[in-house]
Amino acid sequence: MPNKLTWYTIIAAFWLAFLTILGVNLVGNTIIFGNPLSQEHEKLEKFGYPIEVVAEAPDTGKGSGPVFVSSLPLVAAASVDDGAAVFKKCGTCHTAEAGGANKTGPNLHNIVGDAIGDRNGFKTTDSLKGMPGGKWTYEILDDYIENPKHLAPKGAMSFAGLKKPQDRAAVIKFLMSNTDNPPPIPAAAETPAAPAEPAAAAPAPATPAK
Ligand code: HEC
Repeated sequence: MPNKLTWYTIIAAFWLAFLTILGVNLVGNTIIFGNPLSQEHEKLEKFGYPIEVVAEAPDTGKGSGPVFVSSLPLVAAASVDDGAAVFKKCGTCHTAEAGGANKTGPNLHNIVGDAIGDRNGFKTTDSLKGMPGGKWTYEILDDYIENPKHLAPKGAMSFAGLKKPQDRAAVIKFLMSNTDNPPPIPAAAETPAAPAEPAAAAPAPATPAK
């Protein structure tokens, strides 16, 4: 027959075990669910979904990263006729021939390699004017046509963008055919338009002796 002290020890041991289990459970839930009191175990089952969704997501534009595929390697072989067909989507808002009128968007004659904005008296948004690069290089054209809001988030071109590289390559070919002297298609099409060397590289002007 255990004495009183032994009983206390046994009871204390049970409590300790109980509290330990409770504690481990709380810590575990905190790690898994973020909320120590959450018992919604179904969350655990949903865990895998976001990853799957990302993996299966359709082309969501250059802004979202790795899904964007440059169309530039396809431009040389693209046909102007195909481009004219795709350009019908643009034609609601743009003309491309010399002397064509501005519609909802500016006339796009001579666009390839030209300065961004300031076309044919069209009132360009500041967002478009402020786009990096300043010029319609092939890279920037490709990016803009794929997703006009990527580089000009507050720009006025309400167009979802051409997601298929083949379509963009064809339209770019069509725009080239409507540009008097289009610059050569960059050989290394994947290389982003090289930004100017940082100013730090320039030799510091000699400080005049006082
Ligand atoms: C719903 C009308 C609409 C459609 C469709 C549309 N655009 Fe535009 N686009 C605009 C507007 C408006 C602007 C002026 C954007 C600004 O000022 O922010 C613009 C600007 C541009 C510019 C910049 C011109 C500049 O000022 O330097 C290019 C290039 C361009 N669009 C190409 C295209 C191409 C290619 C397509 C078809 C794939 C297309 N757009 C479809 C309305 C449209």
